[in-house]
Amino acid sequence: MSVEDTTRASGATLDEITALAKRRGFIFQSSEIYGGLAGLYDYGPLGALLKRNIKEAWWRDMVTARDDVVAFDSAVLMHPAVWKASGHVDAFVDRLVDCRVCKHRFRADHLEKPDVCPDCGSKNSFTEPRNFNLMLQTSLGPMEDSASRAYLRPETAQGIFVNFKNIYQTARKRPPFGVAQFGKAFRNEITPGNLTYRLREFEQAELEFFVPDDGADLKWFDHWVQARRKWYADYGVKPDRLRFYELSAEERPHYAKAGVDVEYLFPWGWGELESIAHRGTYDLDAHMRLSGKDLRFFDEGSKTHYTPLLIESSAGMDRTTLTMLVDAYEQEKSVDPNGKQTERVVLRFHPKIAPLQVAVFSLARNKPQLVARARSIEAALHEELRTQYDEGNIGQLYRRQDEIGTPFCVTVDYETLEDQSVTVRHRDSMRQDRVALDSLKEFLDERL
Ligand code: GAP
Repeated sequence: MSVEDTTRASGATLDEITALAKRRGFIFQSSEIYGGLAGLYDYGPLGALLKRNIKEAWWRDMVTARDDVVAFDSAVLMHPAVWKASGHVDAFVDRLVDCRVCKHRFRADHLEKPDVCPDCGSKNSFTEPRNFNLMLQTSLGPMEDSASRAYLRPETAQGIFVNFKNIYQTARKRPPFGVAQFGKAFRNEITPGNLTYRLREFEQAELEFFVPDDGADLKWFDHWVQARRKWYADYGVKPDRLRFYELSAEERPHYAKAGVDVEYLFPWGWGELESIAHRGTYDLDAHMRLSGKDLRFFDEGSKTHYTPLLIESSAGMDRTTLTMLVDAYEQEKSVDPNGKQTERVVLRFHPKIAPLQVAVFSLARNKPQLVARARSIEAALHEELRTQYDEGNIGQLYRRQDEIGTPFCVTVDYETLEDQSVTVRHRDSMRQDRVALDSLKEFLDERL
């Protein structure tokens, strides 16, 4: 990471994000009570909501709002030939070295100094690099032999490619059109890490967009780059922490005509969030070759067959969730209701993806009238919004909701019983408005 990157990097450290994620129930290490497993994480109640809201936003904008993208959902386990054709069996490898002294294992391309172990400092202690295939294996049926070998998919895209004909015929679509799916993918990463950034089990949101070879393919590529740029902007990702890195011909696979990596400035530096690629006819060709089946599109009008070109947008939903968490995190000085200077941590989530949208409080725990009124307000809002009821010390309640990124808090107090109004407190400005109960829903809707 360059000096410039350091100064612009997220204000929060990874340790702060990790601590908050655990403390507030966003992200837990998988199998924690047994010591955990590297590269595997679980989402707690708020993390699960955050990730779901992000996925819903992706699906809404990439599929539901368009008439040229259809939905798909393929199996995790596929015929092993799929991975032969795709190139994963032969080429989905990392170069790996072991330190002979401390026995630690590294990805050769991650080493800053190729002859010094970063863990124990030994010089010239590495073994020769060897290839390590990243696909996780399992076996199908009762026999564990090579005939029963199956792979856990390392990407969801292949499920779409092998079904291309089934999909276009049944959905009655003609290129240009796209196929989208969410799904788990598995990679036996040598060095998982940085919380949920590099996982061994993760979720992808992939869009495979097929276009005719009529000269408009690069326009379509650009269309998707712009659509994805708008998507991140719409959900509030800070523009100075996001970049669309254009891959040069040397950086792209030989068959790819164009490629852009969407990168975010994480606390440790720039990291890839999504890849957008013009993959030509590479994938369909590979499956046609190995399966012997014709996957070309048949154009009824011209009565000709052709292989469409492919534009792919592949985003990791765990990385996107981590991005939203890091991007939203801010630590700032504030003044509490008693006028005392304090520091607060606030997650400034976009209201559409915030786990909760409104918290409703009763000013006192032991006043049945206040509690009943607050609970009934929360129940009414709950029909359409993501809400939560709570009670007790208002300062502490605000602090908690700031830390989980809830845009609005509504407080029911003694005056409410007399004048039918409540206090609405804004997460970002901490401003407080007195709002009449009969216009509360409208007030919130306008701002959410
Ligand atoms: N079908 C294309 C494809 O899979 P990729 O660049 O290998 O392309 C796409 O992966 C996205 O999947 C990445 O940009 C990243 O967001 C996510 N991803 C890949 N490996 C990951 C891992 N080990 N942990 C978490 N997310 C990962």
